Amino acid sequence: MPQSKQDGQRKSKIGDGAAAKQRQLESFSQGPENLLTTNQGVVIPDNHNSLKAGVRGPSLLEDFILREKITHFDHERIPERVVYARGAGAHGYFELTRSLVEYTRADFLQEPGARTPVFVRFSTVAGARGSADTVRDVRGFAVKFYTREGNYDLVGNNMPVFFIQDAIKYPDLIHAIKPEPHHGMPQAATAHDTFWDFASLMPETTHMLMWIMSDRAIPRSYRMMEGFGVHTFRFINAKGVAHFVKFHWKPKLGKHALVWDEAQKIAGKDPDFHRRDLWEAIVHGSFPEWELGLQLIEESKAGSLGFDLLDATKLIPEEIVPVLTVGKLVLNRNPDNFHAETEQVAFHPGHVVPGIDFSSDPLLQGRLFSYTDSQLSRLGGANVHELPINRSVCPLHNFQRDGMHRMLVNKGQVAYEPNSLASGSESRADGGQQGFQSYSEAVEPPKIRRRSPSFDDHFSQASLFWNSQSPAEKEHIIAAFQFELSKVEVLAVRQRLVDNLAHVDAKLARKVAEPLGIAVPDPKAAAGRSGFRDVRTKLPLEVSAALSMEGAGNGGGVATRKVAVLVAAGVEVGALRVIQQALQEAGATSRIVAAHLGFVATSSGQQLAVDHTFANMPSVMFDAVLVPGGAASAESLVRDGDAVHYALEAYKHCKTVCVIGEGVQLLRTLGVAAVEAGPAVAGVLIGKNDPPGRAQLAQEFIAAIAKHRHWMRPNIEAIPA
Ligand code: HEM
Repeated sequence: MPQSKQDGQRKSKIGDGAAAKQRQLESFSQGPENLLTTNQGVVIPDNHNSLKAGVRGPSLLEDFILREKITHFDHERIPERVVYARGAGAHGYFELTRSLVEYTRADFLQEPGARTPVFVRFSTVAGARGSADTVRDVRGFAVKFYTREGNYDLVGNNMPVFFIQDAIKYPDLIHAIKPEPHHGMPQAATAHDTFWDFASLMPETTHMLMWIMSDRAIPRSYRMMEGFGVHTFRFINAKGVAHFVKFHWKPKLGKHALVWDEAQKIAGKDPDFHRRDLWEAIVHGSFPEWELGLQLIEESKAGSLGFDLLDATKLIPEEIVPVLTVGKLVLNRNPDNFHAETEQVAFHPGHVVPGIDFSSDPLLQGRLFSYTDSQLSRLGGANVHELPINRSVCPLHNFQRDGMHRMLVNKGQVAYEPNSLASGSESRADGGQQGFQSYSEAVEPPKIRRRSPSFDDHFSQASLFWNSQSPAEKEHIIAAFQFELSKVEVLAVRQRLVDNLAHVDAKLARKVAEPLGIAVPDPKAAAGRSGFRDVRTKLPLEVSAALSMEGAGNGGGVATRKVAVLVAAGVEVGALRVIQQALQEAGATSRIVAAHLGFVATSSGQQLAVDHTFANMPSVMFDAVLVPGGAASAESLVRDGDAVHYALEAYKHCKTVCVIGEGVQLLRTLGVAAVEAGPAVAGVLIGKNDPPGRAQLAQEFIAAIAKHRHWMRPNIEAIPA
């Protein structure tokens, strides 16, 4: 098709919005039917018996129905992703709320209100496809925008920096994180010798180590984590003027984390925790939402930031370059088929559209090669873009031909350019002004295999991150380092790492080292080692609130939060009903949890339906616990070890716990004498059965849940849960 006609088709789709991709996918979809056929369309009369020589005789090779079925089954697995293998995806749309015409000519970023269909895949990095969701790891946050000018992929993470500065180290990094090659352990964990050996010898990892040891690495939900494009990219406007740009996704529900003990337990109790959470939120119409934010920097100002924008181990503090909100991402449809969509989707940071371009970040530059290369073996050939989930919604045409599983039937005699035979007149795409134009960046000679000295500062931003954390977050980081390094068997590796940490913060390093059976951290020891650079930039700020999960963006209310209501026979439901109603109105859900399924009799003789048992939905599956009154119910709960454990564990994980009337007896089992009699404990509410005050208790309960966790709680260490 001539170029101008194709362009006409692209532009004529205004208003097509988010539906374009769904319509396209539907043309490839099929529901189940009763009539069975072979892949050749021949009706199968019997799907229970193979063709045999006599009813008790051997099966016959001739049985093409059996052979076809077994053969297809034998080949139905594809290789998992070499990294980011474990993931979950969803469809949705991106809506622009502010025109970016000033900065970029990208079509989908011009008109406020324009909607672009998207497919998003969240993932963990290190684990295999079947590993648990809640392991300590970076989370992938990959967004494919099906724009009218072609697919644009923003393939980012939930942390704004990365471990390494140059893609040539990526295979080493991943080999160090993945299970050790001799025995294949551990799965989906950094807590082993090879990761920390590598990290300790590569001080450039230090900033990212701070992030991955923080609560960011154990998100409560994909819906409650930020996303970042990580690298610096470029926006180019219609006049050819470029700005550097950093991408941010800000979750509507705030940024929240699990507790490490909880994350480990969930990994066993429900390895699909994040996948299920995403799926269920969409099923229930609570569509996950993020704002798209941008940090835009004039090219001429980049040099004055004090660090190199091309270094992916650095971020731009939001206080220095504010994040401009320009749109929203809404996920509103679950995939129809995990394999066809979530598994076969092929993201690529090199999928850009006119108006968006790369920077020379050497990590990004390596990524531009890696993804298609990897997908050639993962998805089996050069026609990956023809898989329904990967197709653009705009027309495409070129003279690429053939290859495995080619679906397009290219017509005509001509498969080359330039030509005069395709349309009868000369056609040549050469030096044209339309379509994608690479930014004409001036490149400095000479060709050289060296790291830029502007990448040398490995510690000042790690210190900024540390200084920006709340006291509770600092405790979690120290505990995470201690846990991970305690799993490292070689003492010299532990030592090397804490010596590096001494360059971030002396107290941090000392605290981490305390229980590890090693010497006091020595910053001078780190100084002599390879990879160490004695360079520290003076940053214009000591604290950045946006780096703390307890700082800005910690809100989000209680929408979609889950409350467990612990009951036994004789439960008093008066106050419970009021609280349940209030929770529902606030968008939270409550579930009745008891020792057995079926019903329990209430104190007024009614039947209360039970949703879950203590065993099948333990406290780690919920955000808060409510224990209603009723003398008989409370007595039974106190005698039930599972119920006691439930309350203890919720307390230990700093969740909101509310007890009403006699339900307070369960609180006494916490072994925290002060809880009832002493000063109020954050997030522990004690209410009465009586009608007055029920509505207020409900509101206090909701306000406490909205705080997510109550980190500064007494006696947590004393609780054995
Ligand atoms: C800032 C650094 C990086 C980020 C944010 C990042 C992000 C991601 C994400 C989100 C995915 C999963 C995509 C999906 O859901 O299908 C992914 C996959 C992958 N990444 Fe990266 N990555 C980074 C660095 C690298 C580097 C340096 C390389 C190689 C040089 C690389 C190679 C790959 C490969 C091969 C895959 C699997 C692709 C596939 O099979 O579909 N990544 N990456």
